[in-house]
Amino acid sequence: MIKVQNIAVLTSGGDAPGMNACIRSVVRAAIYHGIGAFGVHDGFNGLINNNIVPLLYDDVSNILQRGGTILGTARSKDFRAKEFREVAHQNLKDRNIDALIVIGGDGSFKGMKTFSEEFDFPVIGIPATIDNDINGTDYAIGFDTALNNIIDAVDKIRDTASSHHRVFLVEVMGNNSGVLALHAAAASGAEEVFIPERQEDLLEFKGKIARAVNAKKSSIIIVSEGDGMGGAKEIYAYLKAEGLDTNIRVSILGHIQRGGSPSYLDRLYSALFGEEAIVCLLKGKRNLMTSLVDGKVTSVNITESFTRKTDLNMDYLKLIRKLSIY
Ligand code: F6P
Repeated sequence: MIKVQNIAVLTSGGDAPGMNACIRSVVRAAIYHGIGAFGVHDGFNGLINNNIVPLLYDDVSNILQRGGTILGTARSKDFRAKEFREVAHQNLKDRNIDALIVIGGDGSFKGMKTFSEEFDFPVIGIPATIDNDINGTDYAIGFDTALNNIIDAVDKIRDTASSHHRVFLVEVMGNNSGVLALHAAAASGAEEVFIPERQEDLLEFKGKIARAVNAKKSSIIIVSEGDGMGGAKEIYAYLKAEGLDTNIRVSILGHIQRGGSPSYLDRLYSALFGEEAIVCLLKGKRNLMTSLVDGKVTSVNITESFTRKTDLNMDYLKLIRKLSIY
C-alpha cells in the first residue's frame, strides 16, 4: 500500500451550503495526519487549467460558516474528454498529488471514477447537493440548509397568502427528484405537494383548490421543478384553463434555496464526511463515497451513487394529506 503524501480537494456541480465546512475538514484532517493538501479552483476545470493551490491550516480558517464554496465550482464539459483528463492527471503528478477528493453530486462522481480507472488514481467522493437525491447515502451536504431556506420562505409567503386568502404554488428545486419538495412540504405544513416520482389526480387536486378558494382559505402547494406537469407555472396554467386562477399566485424560490450560512446538520456532516474521506485514503481505500447509513458515517463503493435515490418516504405524503383535509 502506497502512503498518500498529498491530496487535492475540489468542489463540483451545483454549490451546496456546507461545502466550505467540508473543505476545512478535509484540509485540517489531512494536516493532522501529516498529508499535504491542495485546493483546485472551479471544479474539474481547475485540474485542466492548472488552477491548483496549496491549502494550509490558516487558509481554511473562518470559512465554515460561509455558504457557497471558496474554491468555486463548475460542471466541467472539458473533463468528459480524455485529452483534457490527461492534462489534469499530469498537473496533479507535477505536484506529487496522489489522491483526489471531490465534493459534489453523482454527475461529478462519474467523471471522477472514469479518471480514477484511466490513471489508477485514488479518488473519494463526498456527497453534496441540496437535492439529497444520491443513492447510497441518507444524507448529502446542503440539504438541511436548503430545507430551512424553503421553510423560511414559505412562512413569509403564508403571511401574505393568509391576508389575501390566496393559494400559492411554491416551486422548489430538485433536479427531477422530489426528495427536497417532499421534505419541505411535510415540514412547512403545505396542503399538497407535486413531485416528479408521482402523477397526481388533477381532477381531485382541482376540487381541493376550488374548495379552498371558495372557502377563502389560504393554501401552500409545493411543486418540485421537475414535476411531470412541468413546474408551478404549468400547474397554474392548468388551473387557469379550468377557470380557477383569480386567487392563485405562483412563487418560484430559485437559487435563494442554495445560499446562506450552513445549518448545524450541514456543518456536522461536512466535518464528519471530510475526515472520513482522509481516513479512507489512509487505509488505502479508493473509489468510495463517504456516506451516512442508518445514522452512521461510513463509505460505499462510488458506483452505488450512480443510480437515483428511489426510496422516497411516501409516508410524508400521507402525513401532508392527513394534516390538511379540506
Ligand atoms: O443540483 C442542485 C440544483 O440546485 C438542482 O436542484 C437544480 O435543478 C440545479 O442545481 C440548478 O442548476 P443551476 O444552478 O446550474 O441553474
